[in-house]
Amino acid sequence: MKIKYTLPIVFVVALVIIEKENNIISRVSDKVALKQTPQNPLQSSGFSTILLKQNGSLTSPSRMKSAFTLMKRRLENYSVHQEVMTRGKKHILLLATTRTGSSFVGEFFNQQGNDMFYLFEPLWHVERMLTLENGGTNATAAAKAYRDVLQQLFLCDFSLLESFIDPLPVDHITNALFRRASSSSLCENSVCSPFIKGVFEPYHCRTRRCGPLNLTMASESCLKKEHRAIKSVRVRQLETLRPLAEDPRLDVKFIQLVRDPRAVLASRMVAFAAKYRNWKQWAMDGEVPIDDDGVKNLKGNCDNIRMSAEIGLRQPLWLGRRYMLVRYEDIARFPMRKAKEMYRFTGIPFTPRVKSWILRNTQASKGASGVYSTQKKSSEQVEKWRFTLPFKIAQAVQKVCGQTLKLFGYKFVSSEEMLTNKSISLIEDKVFNFL
Ligand SMILES: *[C@@H]1O[C@H](CO)[C@@H](O)[C@H](O)[C@H]1NC(C)=O
Ligand SMILES: *[C@@H]1O[C@H](CO)[C@@H](O)[C@H](O)[C@H]1NC(C)=O
Ligand SMILES: *[C@@H]1O[C@H](CO)[C@@H](O)[C@H](O)[C@H]1NC(C)=O
Ligand SMILES: *[C@@H]1O[C@H](CO)[C@@H](O)[C@H](O)[C@H]1NC(C)=O
Ligand SMILES: *[C@@H]1O[C@H](CO)[C@@H](O)[C@H](O)[C@H]1NC(C)=O
Repeated sequence: MKIKYTLPIVFVVALVIIEKENNIISRVSDKVALKQTPQNPLQSSGFSTILLKQNGSLTSPSRMKSAFTLMKRRLENYSVHQEVMTRGKKHILLLATTRTGSSFVGEFFNQQGNDMFYLFEPLWHVERMLTLENGGTNATAAAKAYRDVLQQLFLCDFSLLESFIDPLPVDHITNALFRRASSSSLCENSVCSPFIKGVFEPYHCRTRRCGPLNLTMASESCLKKEHRAIKSVRVRQLETLRPLAEDPRLDVKFIQLVRDPRAVLASRMVAFAAKYRNWKQWAMDGEVPIDDDGVKNLKGNCDNIRMSAEIGLRQPLWLGRRYMLVRYEDIARFPMRKAKEMYRFTGIPFTPRVKSWILRNTQASKGASGVYSTQKKSSEQVEKWRFTLPFKIAQAVQKVCGQTLKLFGYKFVSSEEMLTNKSISLIEDKVFNFL
């Protein structure tokens, strides 16, 4: 009698496992075909056949047990093989929102050296064009465009991006690429065509001047690099990038950079003063209208960031271990440690050049602000917002972004005194990734 009730349940479990196995096989076989690595041990496993023999009915518990054991061993073999297969080109996508320190963190990869092709905010062109064309209101269309452009760029194909550059490049030549000088890769010899006086404005690429950018040259240079990294503050939902994670030609690693939404708002109120005029008024009034579009926007941003992180941390099958969450506050306080962790996660060598860049740019002697200061000073800088953001505004952020604060380990403040009491840290120690 008992077996009648237990068998169907076992069967469901087996089907789920078979489904997973098939997913792995399809991904693995794609990679194998492309990279010509030794034959995948799972492909000829025959595991499904053993289980589903005789028209879907199971033979005997002992057969099944041995089938499981076999599959377990083959999965172990698979992970060894996977390591071998992915020891190649890496594609890093640094996902953030504005005022979270993403330019600074992007430099960790820009400074890697000759193996890295780094692009700074290429989606700026896409957002701008879509906004000009239709007011930028169609989030679905934007997400699709972002995804397709990123996918092409990771493959060193600039053609779709080109169609968004204004004015449209002629013969793949442009003088309008946004922040070209922020990508070392777009300033090096192979991509720096001679600057001819009077024809174009020169690009000031750090210490040198280059002529207009030849995107064919950029693409050729990109193809020669071992790894590619792109920083973007424009992607709203991690899930929209699923096709990148599943693309067998890519080995994508997503790094999501987050920051305390209260600090982000404080920073935006300064950096984008005109856009955040209402918030200044509310700060003075001591009253925040929760139904205002500005507040709804803030809530929307917080929700997007949180939902992306929730998916990333849940590690669904399509994503696996391709996701890492990093808090700005941790980077500001422990830049070297966090940079090493990020490099370990991506599987790219942490070069002496990155190390020395971090050392140089986190010295107090530079006298700079923000994350460009020593650890102790950084800790102070990280919490500076607590003395500029009015308590009422902090409360409003806590109200609409509460779940986001909780997920990332940012403590709520219950009074003005708590907000401005330096001996109370608002950053909980939190480990998000098992590296
Ligand atoms: C499977 O089912 C088909 C059709 O019902 C039948 O002809 C066949 O003999 C079955 N095979 C086994 C191994 O039971
Ligand atoms: C695992 O791989 C080794 C070496 O390639 C092979 O000899 C062995 O049969 C494999 N084991 C299984 C269970 O596939
Ligand atoms: C938004 O874009 C999607 C995808 O391109 C399209 O299917 C949809 O009709 C658009 N919606 C609006 C309101 O324009
Ligand atoms: C751009 O670079 C490509 C590849 O190096 C070259 O063939 C082409 O002539 C260049 N275009 C111009 C206008 O210089
Ligand atoms: C700040 O917090 C600490 C620790 O909770 C407390 O001992 C201290 O009295 C507080 N200071 C002020 C000024 O409220």
